[in-house]
Amino acid sequence: MRRLLSLTALAVMLAVCPAADPPARPGYVGVGGCAASGCHGGGDRVGVAGSEFTTWATADPHHKAYAVLLTEAGQRMTRLYRRNPAADAGTDAACLACHAPQASTDISLRTDGVGCEACHGPAQNWRTTHYLNDWRNLDSAAKAKQGFIPTRDLTGRIQACVECHVGKPGMEVDHDLIAAGHPRLTFEYAAYHDIYPKHWVEPAGANFAVKSWAVGQVITASAQTRLIAEHARSKRGPELADLNCYSCHRGLTGEATDTTTRPPGALSANDWAFAGLASVGELGGAFAPPSPVDAQPLLNLVGQPGSKPADVEQAAAKLQTALDKWAAELDKVPAADIAGARNVFTRLADTRATNWDRAAQTYLAMTALHRSLPASPGRQASLGRVRDTLRFPHGINSPAGFSLNAFHSAMKGVAP
Ligand code: HEC
Ligand code: HEC
Ligand code: HEC
Ligand code: HEC
Repeated sequence: MRRLLSLTALAVMLAVCPAADPPARPGYVGVGGCAASGCHGGGDRVGVAGSEFTTWATADPHHKAYAVLLTEAGQRMTRLYRRNPAADAGTDAACLACHAPQASTDISLRTDGVGCEACHGPAQNWRTTHYLNDWRNLDSAAKAKQGFIPTRDLTGRIQACVECHVGKPGMEVDHDLIAAGHPRLTFEYAAYHDIYPKHWVEPAGANFAVKSWAVGQVITASAQTRLIAEHARSKRGPELADLNCYSCHRGLTGEATDTTTRPPGALSANDWAFAGLASVGELGGAFAPPSPVDAQPLLNLVGQPGSKPADVEQAAAKLQTALDKWAAELDKVPAADIAGARNVFTRLADTRATNWDRAAQTYLAMTALHRSLPASPGRQASLGRVRDTLRFPHGINSPAGFSLNAFHSAMKGVAP
């Protein structure tokens, strides 16, 4: 009721003084507000301008994001997570936050799943103006003030993805949710961009892959750092998802994790989100960080039982500042330097991975770099053989059976 009243008050305020500053958190209008045939619901060819809604509704996994909550798997997760046999994923705010963000404005919009505004920003303040000339003349900052997310900038775009694909304080896939059956989030922008059924044509040239990989690594690391800081601040005890999954869950064959670099039984930090940073820096030139970026001090503290939360917070704040500065610079890099990309590709082919996470990040980096290098069917096929060693067994949501030996022998065969 309070929410209803405040929304009404807001509408009145806007009607009386249309020139007032937009509200701090504009509302969602829902996909129905974008779908008219003269707007984004025209045409039927995927990726053609004007057919964005059609593409989303027929090919985009986000349009099913609410429906997956209602599946047997989604409901079971929620019951286990809430330890309540009557819990319902379809109304649980923790699930809707990422699976149907529009529900925060109006619960009836939840069936949209992850709608247009999840990535383009809540449209209450710009829906009726964003096709006018005045709007086109605004810069990204002015549009952002209205709630519009500048998705054309890689940083703005990837910041939108990581809210759900990495999480943010109060909205995350923690170890309790993973143990209840939710997939662990392992986001890497270039790979997700590649498999995403896009409703636009990317204007960037061949170097897009390497640049989007670089920006994605830095923004993903920043989002993870923010979560780690929040866990330290809330002092609710260690969040197991901040720790390396394999320090507790491991195959017993001895082939899945490298025990030569740390004592058996020692914990370590979950470094999925940080594993690629050094390689981005090695691209050199305009890709190098403006000030040194070293995630290790934070990761050491996270992996060390008994670290003081205040120390974790401090190390996280320092890293976050450096990462955010770096991301802002990376968005301005005009084009990747192919020689730099080739050097990093060659070096990665020689890297010894220590577990599935490190191996997968190495593979994903090489794939992004490969797309920016001159085409080579031999290289493509050899990377496919590396990917086969990383696949999860059918029907199992973890890399059970992963072998570092198999990964490294496939890597030896990667064509330059
Ligand atoms: C921080 C955001 C976030 C939260 C919170 C969240 N999810 Fe998800 N969920 C995701 C993302 C992202 C994916 C897709 C993962 C991928 O493929 O990378 C996903 C996937 C799923 C899937 C599909 C699994 C599959 O294997 O296809 C189900 C079911 C699901 N979530 C249920 C839930 C339920 C139930 C809740 C609440 C208890 C919940 N989620 C909370 C982000 C979230
Ligand atoms: C998962 C995130 C996501 C969702 C969901 C999404 N978009 Fe997009 N959209 C993007 C990105 C990223 C781009 C490419 C960058 C750009 O051009 O802004 C884009 C591009 C566009 C463009 C082209 C802009 C241009 O300059 O060519 C339009 C129009 C658009 N989206 C409309 C929609 C509509 C309508 C929906 C819902 C039916 C929607 N989008 C859903 C992320 C998303
Ligand atoms: C509001 C939260 C949200 C945002 C923002 C978001 N996603 Fe998603 N994404 C999800 C959820 C939830 C799923 C799982 C949907 C399902 O299982 O049907 C998903 C699924 C996906 C998948 C399919 C993954 C798979 O395993 O098949 C891709 C690809 C993807 N998202 C890419 C992106 C990209 C790229 C962006 C940013 C441009 C983005 N998403 C922004 C929530 C989000
Ligand atoms: C500090 C140790 C520790 C770390 C680190 C850890 N877990 Fe767990 N995990 C546990 C324990 C303990 C359980 C409960 C086992 C039980 O009930 O049998 C568990 C349960 C689970 C389960 C449910 C298993 C089942 O059979 O029901 C999954 C899935 C899981 N963890 C995945 C992960 C993932 C993915 C990561 C990394 C992001 C991770 N864990 C990190 C200790 C850990």
